[in-house]
This record gives sequence, structure tokens and C-alpha cells, in this order.
Amino acid sequence: MDNRGSEYLEWFKSREPSRFNLASSGVQPYPLADLGVSLDRIEQNMPEDSLQEAIAARSKVPPACVVVASGTSMANYLAMGVLVEPGDEILIEHPAYEPLVAVARRYGARIKRFQRRSDDGFRIRPEEVERSVTKQTKLIVITNLHNPTSVLTDEATLRAVGEIAKDVGAYVLADEVYLECLYENACTVFHVGEQFVVTSSLTKAYGLSGLRCGWVLAEAELAKRMRWLKDLLDPALATPAAPLSVIALGQLDRIGSRAKSRLDTNRAVLHSFLDSRPDLEAVRPQFGTSVFPRLQHADSERFFTLLRDRYETDVVPGQFFGAPGHFRLGIVADPETFAGGLDRLGAALDRAR
Ligand SMILES: Cc1ncc(COP(=O)(O)O)c(C=O)c1O
Repeated sequence: MDNRGSEYLEWFKSREPSRFNLASSGVQPYPLADLGVSLDRIEQNMPEDSLQEAIAARSKVPPACVVVASGTSMANYLAMGVLVEPGDEILIEHPAYEPLVAVARRYGARIKRFQRRSDDGFRIRPEEVERSVTKQTKLIVITNLHNPTSVLTDEATLRAVGEIAKDVGAYVLADEVYLECLYENACTVFHVGEQFVVTSSLTKAYGLSGLRCGWVLAEAELAKRMRWLKDLLDPALATPAAPLSVIALGQLDRIGSRAKSRLDTNRAVLHSFLDSRPDLEAVRPQFGTSVFPRLQHADSERFFTLLRDRYETDVVPGQFFGAPGHFRLGIVADPETFAGGLDRLGAALDRAR
């Protein structure tokens, strides 16, 4: 077994965040007090399936297709735990959220990559997936929205990828944690076909990361096997997180509109910043919590050190997504910090030129 963990998570957790933290990609914490709940509504003995049913109702799927998990992280671990055998060939997008690769590696998969090219707007090209897939491929792994670029994959492309998977008898694991940033317009690919297994959570789009409310959506037989795996790791719901998650699921429209308005404000500021910086090349998605610009002129490693040490500003170096020269820039900070961080980023770019 490959015991390595995730290089990215190790980096993320071990660093002291700078004053201008533009590395995070999760909406800032929603005040739990605003859920309007008093503790007497929180019971320790909440029935095990209440949260499963609440997630099922929201995702418009049968409860038997839902596996409750602690965040998308555990959801991905459970999904791959059932879908991947040691030695299986699996195909993962590139650039990618590195912990997905780390989980596949840990399960002993033979990992292949397919490219989402920067000069093609980081889109998923079904032709590219088809070229990379083989009869041995057991799983295709994508994120939608794409982490790190926030690019949305449309339904026609997802259907095409689903057909390619079906032809070779593979599943598609779609990590949709950032699709939640479409709020009321998010529509899971789970409904497109049984070859899709979806993972997601409330951790990124709503500022509810502390509740660790995540899930897998999978066809009922697969979901049952994932629940068996979950029971070995984490057999009971956490109180108060589970009952609070049920309550939050009932208020997502309100919680989401606050988050959306913050993201829209910062996105407009980001776009005028990018307009002023010919030295940054960036795809500019309409949704999501991050962008993934490329430094045109600066040496990336030296630049990130300069940005942090001299300008007190953090971004995520692209090397963690397999794309050195790029960096992930989060737009989730409060507007003042965000604008201050962009000013410093601009100053660092000027200095590095
Ligand atoms: C694509 C992707 N999946 C999963 C996760 C982990 O999410 P969670 O906090 O819900 O475990 C992240 C976190 O950044 C992510 O970017």
C-alpha cells in the first residue's frame, strides 16, 4: 500500500495564513447563530436516516442512493473505496485537486491522466477522454466546477464522458463540491445516468464547513457498499453537526444568497484587476470561488515567496495541482481583505517584472 498522504493538504494545514489570505476556496463561516436554533432542538439521538433523507430530498434522489459522509473528502474516500481495486486503471483530469490523486494512489490504482488544457479554457474535451481511456479503465475522475479553475462542464459534455465510460464499463466519479456555487441552479449529474457517482458537501459554497455535511450519490447497490465502508470508519452521526445540517439544508436558499452576493462582489473586483494585468493570463469563469491565473513573466517559486514574505499575501502555488507557473486565487475573503490582497499581488507582480 502507498502510505503517502496529500502533499497539498500537508502544505495547506502546516502554513501560517498570511494577513491577506487569498489561498482559501471555501466561503467564510456562516454564523451558526443565524440558523435561529436553540439547543433544545438538538437531540443526541437523532435517527440515523434523518440527514440521509434531508440530503436525498434536496438532491431529488431516493434516500437509498445517498451515503452521508464527513465532507466531500470522506465521500471521495468511500466512493473510491468501493469503485477501485488495487491495480485498477483510473483516469483523472489534469490539473486536479491533488487529494483525489492521493486517495486513488492509496487504494493502489494505476493512475492515468487526461488533460484540460489552459489554451482551451481548461474545458473537458470528450475526444481527449476517449483518447486516454482503455478497456481496463474502471473509473474516470472529474471535478465540476473544476478545482482549481472553476470552469463549469455542461451537461452535453458530461453525457459524452458518461457514454465513453459506459462503453468500457467504467464509472465516472464527479466531485461536485463547487457546483454548489451555482446555488439554486446547481443540478447534479447523478440524474444523467447510473455510471455517474457524485460526491459533494455544504463545506465550500455556504460557509458551513464546520458541519462537515457531505455525501455520495450512487446507485442503491453501490451506495449500500459505501455505507458498509463508512460504518467501519465512522458508524454514527455527530451531534450537534448532523441535526444542525438538517436544519441548514432547510435554509440553504437564504444561506446561499448571502454567500453568492459576497462572491459576486469580489468577482467584479477580480475582473477589473485582471483587466489591468496583461502579465496574468486567466480563464474567467462566471461561478465558483477561485481562478487559476498563469504568471506570464515571473519565476513562479520566487514570486510566491516574494508575495508571501514581502507582501503578506497567500495564494496556492499551481504545483499542487500539477501546473507550476499558475496559482489558485480564492475570491472568498471579506471585500476589504480581498481588495487589499489584490493590491499587494499587483505590487508584487510589478516588482517581479
Ligand atoms: C474538489 C474538492 N473536493 C473535495 C474537497 C474537500 O471538501 P470537504 O471540505 O467537503 O471535505 C475540496 C476542498 O478543497 C475540493 O476542492
